[in-house]
Amino acid sequence: MELKLKTCTVRPWRRGDEESLVANANNYKIWRNVRDRFPHPYTLDAARDWIGLASQEMPPSNCAIVVDRQAVGGIGLVFRDDINRCRAEIGYWLGEAYWGRGIVTEAVRAMTSWAFANYDLASIYAGVLEWNPASMRVLEKAGYKFEARLRKAMIKEGVVMDELIYSVMREEAEFYGG
Ligand SMILES: CC(C)(COP(=O)(O)OP(=O)(O)OC[C@H]1O[C@@H](n2cnc3c(N)ncnc32)[C@H](O)[C@@H]1OP(=O)(O)O)[C@@H](O)C(=O)NCCC(=O)NCCS
Repeated sequence: MELKLKTCTVRPWRRGDEESLVANANNYKIWRNVRDRFPHPYTLDAARDWIGLASQEMPPSNCAIVVDRQAVGGIGLVFRDDINRCRAEIGYWLGEAYWGRGIVTEAVRAMTSWAFANYDLASIYAGVLEWNPASMRVLEKAGYKFEARLRKAMIKEGVVMDELIYSVMREEAEFYGG
């Protein structure tokens, strides 16, 4: 799997990505907007563990966002189970030095199309912390629609807040080549 895009390439994590992963992921501004399981500080050991796991996935569901041959961000899918198995959650982050160039918007669109083409999914969604308008904007630009506000559904750094759900249906994603 390799998605060659205008601003970046999305491809599986692989050995050799560790240092670039640490250099870009070890950032409080990223950590405060993602799940607590994302390490902080992001150490080389954490990077080795992550790449050891992610590089074994077949087919891959967690990928690196590569710019100038460096893995500078991540994008991945979490598949829901049981009666929610027609749905997956998408998550992403990018090294701060690369923000504002449309990179994640392009990666989300491409990963969404790829996921619908490769998995039997009816919809894909993202859950965004109330304090993260940049991520909401990315999702809107990538064709996702605001779906729901789950009241006081997330806690980050001791602050309980609403979770904003954005989603795209298979039929909608097909409009952009899914
Ligand atoms: C959110 C994030 C993924 C965006 O990546 P990116 O490649 O910079 O995104 P893009 O350049 O494609 O688009 C960013 C959009 O957000 C907008 N934006 C940035 N900061 C904003 C803010 N504080 N309020 C409103 N919009 C904002 C930008 O202006 C841009 O929109 P525009 O093209 O209409 O001007 C990146 O900042 C990041 O990794 N943040 C930390 C981790 C994170 O939030 N992950 C998502 C968890 S749900």
